[in-house]
Amino acid sequence: MQLALSTWQEVERYLERSTGIIIPIGSTEQHGPNGLIGTDAICPLRISQHIETLQDVLIAPSINYGMSAHHMAFAGSVTLKPSTLVQVIIDVVGSLRRHGFTHYYFLNGHGGNIPAVTAAFSELYADVSEGDLSLRCRMANWWRDAAVKQLAAELYGEAEGFHATVSEVALSYYAYPEAVKDVPLSPEVAPTGEFFDAFDFRQKFPDGRIGSSPQLATVKDGERFCRLAADALLADYLEFLSA
Ligand code: NI
Repeated sequence: MQLALSTWQEVERYLERSTGIIIPIGSTEQHGPNGLIGTDAICPLRISQHIETLQDVLIAPSINYGMSAHHMAFAGSVTLKPSTLVQVIIDVVGSLRRHGFTHYYFLNGHGGNIPAVTAAFSELYADVSEGDLSLRCRMANWWRDAAVKQLAAELYGEAEGFHATVSEVALSYYAYPEAVKDVPLSPEVAPTGEFFDAFDFRQKFPDGRIGSSPQLATVKDGERFCRLAADALLADYLEFLSA
């Protein structure tokens, strides 16, 4: 069940069955020459949609903007300041809390969001008074799931990389096969290393990739990642509901 496609009466009835909600969160940032700018939001949303076919869950509209300051030297990237993202999360949870939701499962698709999401959870817990409705927040980073990592290692080895990874590009292609880009990538495997600000990032990683060969991405592999991640994250979510 998707919040955006439900009526308020349906949400009221859902709340009698469950007070948990899955909130996909991603970013709008460059993902190299063949990766979609929406990749980090598309992946968790697609996984959520698969989870929805397996279980009676409620999926919130995805938060499509994240903390992408380090990608701002590439056209099309959009960023929230870390403090803005913290506030967005606090307001989304605060709104849902008024209706009786207690368990907030942020299905994250972007590493750059992790500090802000963690900070937002700390702010939310700091505000809980004795006797309040229980508040439980968890962030799940789909690409860090053990089974997902294992499949990526089996399929691509080192070429999975760190940004514009093969697995995320594959999953986004599975979600939008009509958006698959067939462009040559050079060098085949992108460089790796440390970076500081957005300009430094572009200088060190001129086409936007870090350590990856996303030309290996296929729709078929994307489906495998989606199903694997959905199974693992559903199990994690169900366990979280009893926390
Ligand atoms: Ni990404």
